[in-house]
Amino acid sequence: MKVTVVGAGNVGATCANVLATREVANEVVLLDIKGGFAEGKALDIWETAPINLYDTRTVGCTNDYGRTAGSDVVVITSGLPRKPGMSRDDLIATNSGIVKSVTTQILEHSPEAIIIVVSNPLDVMTYCAYLAAGIDSKRVMGMAGILDTARYRAFLAEELDCSPKDIQAVLMGGHGDTMVPLPRYTTVGGIPVTELVEEGKLEAIVERTKKGGGEIVNLLGTSAWYAPGAAAAQMVEAIVRDQKRIFPACVWLTGEYGIENLYIGAPVKLGKNGIEEIIELDLNAEEKALLAESEKAVRSVAEVLDRMDD
Ligand code: NAI
Ligand code: 2OP
Repeated sequence: MKVTVVGAGNVGATCANVLATREVANEVVLLDIKGGFAEGKALDIWETAPINLYDTRTVGCTNDYGRTAGSDVVVITSGLPRKPGMSRDDLIATNSGIVKSVTTQILEHSPEAIIIVVSNPLDVMTYCAYLAAGIDSKRVMGMAGILDTARYRAFLAEELDCSPKDIQAVLMGGHGDTMVPLPRYTTVGGIPVTELVEEGKLEAIVERTKKGGGEIVNLLGTSAWYAPGAAAAQMVEAIVRDQKRIFPACVWLTGEYGIENLYIGAPVKLGKNGIEEIIELDLNAEEKALLAESEKAVRSVAEVLDRMDD
């Protein structure tokens, strides 16, 4: 198996490192537009192999798409990250140009690849890759839900002083402040979280989750990378190992949840064919209203992209 990660910055290099350390593929190619940058990051990662005891070969290249040929999965992290005061949507013009050109070049050399987009604004950059790719939407998806639920699960583990391993959760909607964590579908060792955490505290955790990306931006002056890189690697692993894992991911909806023709977060089954199933939850009226609000927010940014393409 061969995996390419485009963008050797904070998220891309972290993703490649996790993929290599977990031996998810035989070869991981890192590609960046900055001369020598991906080569340097890939070499540094490769030099951890004798220490961390794995044999995945990690190589880097500067904009050489020939080197990515025959990739089974490609993760796109190229683009600008958020700076303090910027919303994810501020990034649309620059990042859509990058995502479009990367997607086209990737598919020229790896026509069968499954594409995972990480660049922001996530839902609309995934849509941008889908439009540029012209392939089945099952093969083009975005990473956000695993990261957002990981934040939610981490905050709950702190609150309950328990292992994050035992917290299962699902979250829907766009990757932004309108995302919809679903306490009704959150369990701790099989116990509904609503029986363990009082309502006010749970609401505070949901609010912190929605602003989880911004919390890191305010602390670091740029956006997060450890959790996003690991989350993207988990999606790659589910595909490469055909794990049929159930995760929230950014997917193309064609009527599910009453949402037509929009990339947005929903629970899916992820395996060797990409998105193998979109799972429809029986949302209550309040959850439906929150999802409708999130749909509206994502659609308004997608329309910005549509107008730019006119
Ligand atoms: P970064 O600035 O550290 O890395 C981005 C890399 O992309 C740079 O090395 C840059 O040279 C490269 N690049 C730019 N144009 C390129 C092109 N045309 N071809 C190849 N490489 C190119 O940024 P970071 O922190 O890694 O974030 C990457 C993206 O991921 C940002 O858009 C950020 O907002 C997004 N992000 C998304 C998350 C999510 O949950 N979906 C979470 C965290 C970040
Ligand atoms: C994050 O959620 C900014 O999307 C980025 O960390």
